[in-house]
Amino acid sequence: MRTIRFILAEYRANLRWFVIGMIALILGSLIQTVVPIYIKLAVDAASPDGFRIEEGLASRMAVTLLPGEMSADMSFVQLCLGMVVVLSVALAVCTFMKRFYLIRISRRTEYNLKKKMYARLQDQPASFFDNTRSGGIMSLMTSDVEAVRMMIGPAVMYIGGTIFLFPASLLIMFSLNTLLTWLALIPLVGLTAATIWFNPRVRKYSLRSQEDLEQLSARAQENFAGARVVKAFSRENFEIEELRNHGKTYLENKLGQARNQALFQSCIWGFSGLGVLIILYFGAVEVGAGRFSTGDLAAFILYNLGLYWPMIALGWVTMLFVRASASLRRLDALVQREPDPAQVPGGDAPASIRGDIEFENVNLRYADDLPLALEDVSFKIPAGKTIGIVGQVGSGKSTVASLLLRLMAPTTGRILIDGKPIESYDSHALRSFIGYVPQDSFLFSDTIANNIGLAIAPDTEGRTELIHKYTQAAEFEEEVRSLPKGYDTMLGERGVNLSGGQKQRASIARALAANPTILVLDDCLSAVDTDTEERILRNLKKESREVTTVIIAQRISTVAHADEIIVLDHGRITERGTDAALRASGGLYADLARRQELAAELA
Ligand SMILES: Nc1ncnc2c1ncn2[C@@H]1O[C@H](COP(=O)(O)OP(=O)(O)OP(=O)(O)O)[C@@H](O)[C@H]1O
Ligand SMILES: [Mg+2]
Repeated sequence: MRTIRFILAEYRANLRWFVIGMIALILGSLIQTVVPIYIKLAVDAASPDGFRIEEGLASRMAVTLLPGEMSADMSFVQLCLGMVVVLSVALAVCTFMKRFYLIRISRRTEYNLKKKMYARLQDQPASFFDNTRSGGIMSLMTSDVEAVRMMIGPAVMYIGGTIFLFPASLLIMFSLNTLLTWLALIPLVGLTAATIWFNPRVRKYSLRSQEDLEQLSARAQENFAGARVVKAFSRENFEIEELRNHGKTYLENKLGQARNQALFQSCIWGFSGLGVLIILYFGAVEVGAGRFSTGDLAAFILYNLGLYWPMIALGWVTMLFVRASASLRRLDALVQREPDPAQVPGGDAPASIRGDIEFENVNLRYADDLPLALEDVSFKIPAGKTIGIVGQVGSGKSTVASLLLRLMAPTTGRILIDGKPIESYDSHALRSFIGYVPQDSFLFSDTIANNIGLAIAPDTEGRTELIHKYTQAAEFEEEVRSLPKGYDTMLGERGVNLSGGQKQRASIARALAANPTILVLDDCLSAVDTDTEERILRNLKKESREVTTVIIAQRISTVAHADEIIVLDHGRITERGTDAALRASGGLYADLARRQELAAELA
């Protein structure tokens, strides 16, 4: 039902093309139905027995359309064949129009679906991408959209043609010879049985192999993305085996499909051959008895073929419909997803902000069945100040950063920026004031310059100088210069050709280049040595005197200079204060500081 509604909506949206396409389709079908009549007339005119045109509605119709007089001579044959040529040209034009406009609608549908899905994907919360395999999303965008397109265009085109052709052919056959028509229908019963038997089987195998293919590509994609881990753990053989298993079921299902299709094809040829045989035999008897002309026989055979094609198309079209319905369900599940309010434009978009941040009793739960990742977290950072967040792994530090960026919303509690709830801002505007260095420094496969200048519009004057300046601040300049292509060095996917520390510094430079009012650094100095860290922190202080800074770290030395430090433990703030105060209080922080300093001394 939903599928039908979807199709109708698509046609309504493209009504003009649909009407043109449908007119062409109907005209084409009409032409296809009258052509055999002219062939009949031509054959009859050339045969010694002469015409039998007085009977049958089709012959009368054809004769009325004939521009000349009837006569049993060669000029009449030429006239009829001339009509066949004219009609064939008209049919060619109709076929073109039909295909062009109906397929055009389906391509539009494809385009719109992809656009809608891509937009909907963009406004999903970050958690959606954490929980959804990218291979799955890719197959939604490709094979599912393709299935729907095939239904909107080709399927409807073929089914539309057969809806006219089948009854018209049958009607004319009956008007030509009732007995012969009944006889000709016998093999069609066999073909119907074969269709009922084989089609569900073909469909089953086809749907299964489609699923196999999706799994196969999702698996392969993950494998390629994680090629390093696969190699490091010597998992190649295991992966090959896995892919081979997926491939094997795919192959088996495809072979099952091919086997059933092949058998069905044989049935089609067998039954249609039988049909021709019956018509030829009994037709000859009828011709001999003078109840049927040679021309009738010729036309009859042509019409008979018109009965087989719809049966064949029907099976194929049902499969397209079943497949498309399943795809549409999956696409709907995505398209109907509520957009994350935080991702949708709207709200205040001030030209600048001061940068006061306040968390008010913030709780966050990633999913209903998970414990709180943050519990009753409250803190305040006045504009221009720096807050340090430390805590053990999994204590909720990155979660704080995600909340600040509005990558998700707190389960309860409030986050205020400049005293106003974070939800009241347009999230794009808000993010434009925030420089963010994520914990995993994701870089795009582009040049170093473009990665660092991500937030600087390409036509900004002095863009290159700005990029260099921030790269210097991130203590990355020297290394970039030493690369053969310098700033124009292309990065591999996710920046694979940089070291961990280099990636971190590239993404610090990228965040600084956004010229932020709020800077969020999520454990982004973990892969650089303490000397470099110290230099970067000094540069940051110089560069971002006015910037409100949230600095997350495992290492005490990274946060020691902060105006306030909070210690997170299992999502709760257990200690807070300055470095000196925390060391003096003898809690977790003091303990961590002592151990880290000891380790540094030993090293
Ligand atoms: N997308 C997610 N879905 C479900 N749970 C999550 C998700 N992200 C984080 N968590 C859980 O929330 C808790 C806090 O995670 P978070 O990433 O904030 O820790 P962290 O302090 O940054 O740790 P680390 O020092 O290792 O980076 C962890 O228990 C983690 O398992
Ligand atoms: Mg983290």
